[in-house]
Amino acid sequence: MALCQEWLPAQGVERDMIFRELNNAKCKTYLLASGSMGRAVIIDPLKERVERYLGVLAYHGLKLELIVGTHTHADHRSGAHELSELTGAPVAMHRRAPAPHVRMHLEDGQRLIVDDFELKVLYTPGHTPDSISLYAEDRVLTGDCLLIHGTGRADFAGGDAGEQYDSITRKLFALPDSTLVYPAHDYRGHTRSTIGEEKTSNPRVAGRSREAYVELMNNLGLPLPEGIQEALQPNQTEIETAAMHFPTLAQLNSVRQLSPAGVAERIGAAAAPLLLDVREPDEYTGELGHIAGARLIPLRELPERAAAELAPFKEKEIVVICRAGVRSVTAAAILAGLGFDHVCNMKGGMLDWNDARLPVER
Ligand SMILES: [Fe+2]
Repeated sequence: MALCQEWLPAQGVERDMIFRELNNAKCKTYLLASGSMGRAVIIDPLKERVERYLGVLAYHGLKLELIVGTHTHADHRSGAHELSELTGAPVAMHRRAPAPHVRMHLEDGQRLIVDDFELKVLYTPGHTPDSISLYAEDRVLTGDCLLIHGTGRADFAGGDAGEQYDSITRKLFALPDSTLVYPAHDYRGHTRSTIGEEKTSNPRVAGRSREAYVELMNNLGLPLPEGIQEALQPNQTEIETAAMHFPTLAQLNSVRQLSPAGVAERIGAAAAPLLLDVREPDEYTGELGHIAGARLIPLRELPERAAAELAPFKEKEIVVICRAGVRSVTAAAILAGLGFDHVCNMKGGMLDWNDARLPVER
């Protein structure tokens, strides 16, 4: 395969591994491929550039094997689902990712092998609960956990600055100092850094205690990302904005939360709540199962089905359930907007329900 000058093999790697950032923009999408065997992985594709990625793959004769999302993005629409539909390549994300069509759920330490190279999954939560970094050969793709001379914000979408500090200092800084750092974003025109450089000169982390980092991150006072309403909930739900009127952040924040243990207690009470599962049918019967008696109405169908099917439950308590407890917040806020006054969300969804070893049916 003829490679142009930009398609250099990864530095320090003898094998013919191709590595390239495909957007030349603030939002980074990476391509990793085996030059000799022709299989490729795309990481963090943007929705508006899917056709460009297909063109790049076709031009260079690469077959897309896998699409990986480093986390659920709040500032742009992900192209992962669309790219997957067009190529058949599965989408892989951390198991905490809320979206319904992720085919491979990843765990810390898992190795993704494509031809003659592998990506090691490092669970690096903090920016979001589903944030991962990918370690390949001499480089690490850090998503929005560690940026070049910065860090991704941790003040919305389930972020946690303390967790992020631990991810950076214990997981990423444990890599060799020479490891190249490629983040999912850069706003100042940088393309890469190294672990050693970030250890000594990252202005948010270097020389700062965990406590001081949390204090700093909780007081950044940044405005919410532009277009968050058009990006975050569609990425979490894989539902197009045109097809769904999503609740506002204030509406989402006002949803009452109930732990799985709290839900289990309610189920046993005299006036048991209606359990409303808003996942897709294949998830309802899938690996995480469902709670006995839970009624299934997928989120995408909820606005049109709620009035007719849930009218008898208007005065009753409704507990909304999904995979990670994210789509269900959207569903709960939609129901509240339709006049259901006693709706709450099961925090952590079926993931936490299973982790608490509470009973499921499949
Ligand atoms: Fe992000």
